[in-house]
Amino acid sequence: MSSSSSSTDPLFSATLLPPTVQRDLPPGYTIRPLCAADFSEGFLDVLRVLTTVGDISEQQFADRYAYMKKHNDAYFLVVVEDSARPQGMRCVGTGCLVVERKFIHELGLVGHIEDIAVAKDQQGKKLGLRLIQALDGVAEAVGCYKTILDCSDANEGFYVKCGYKRAGLEMAHYY
Ligand code: ACO
Repeated sequence: MSSSSSSTDPLFSATLLPPTVQRDLPPGYTIRPLCAADFSEGFLDVLRVLTTVGDISEQQFADRYAYMKKHNDAYFLVVVEDSARPQGMRCVGTGCLVVERKFIHELGLVGHIEDIAVAKDQQGKKLGLRLIQALDGVAEAVGCYKTILDCSDANEGFYVKCGYKRAGLEMAHYY
């Protein structure tokens, strides 16, 4: 990290987040862009609620973060922080918006929502909903004409509550 940047510098400008989302969080909770210091606040543990993460060193995390920071018109990762939790485990939710730049639709931008996760003991407090509202707000602010995502049947009801509707069919080719 360069001397001019700090580990708490946001990945992207927090002004892109709709203020209403912060207002609607429970007291003591904050939603904000990811920062490098989140490595030490349980960010990867939250992602483990979603899927396998692996054993990622601080350097590997920093390298991936630096890449995202360099491309922070495409990668928008947010975290929800709970100030009531002990230091080191304050990150309780995360979500990602990737903005794809197209030729079609007059150089249209499409948002892709990825890797939404809320810590198990924090689920049911509308944190997932707030994450999606925040990412939708960013997508709209940067000019996306739509946002799409893939999810399991078990999560369809959650995304319907967030304003999404079933559209199309996911296909995958694993390598
Ligand atoms: N099915 C139907 N409804 C649901 C579900 C579900 N699986 N989960 C939540 N809801 C409803 C809630 O009851 C609530 O409804 P209400 O407004 O009537 O009260 C509404 O959706 C909002 O729920 P939240 O409290 O915001 O949900 P939560 O904070 O628990 O987050 C999430 C939901 C993200 C799915 C969480 O359970 C989680 O982290 N699960 C494990 C990881 C995961 O599956 N992530 C999504 C992967 S898909 C992707 O990343 C694109």
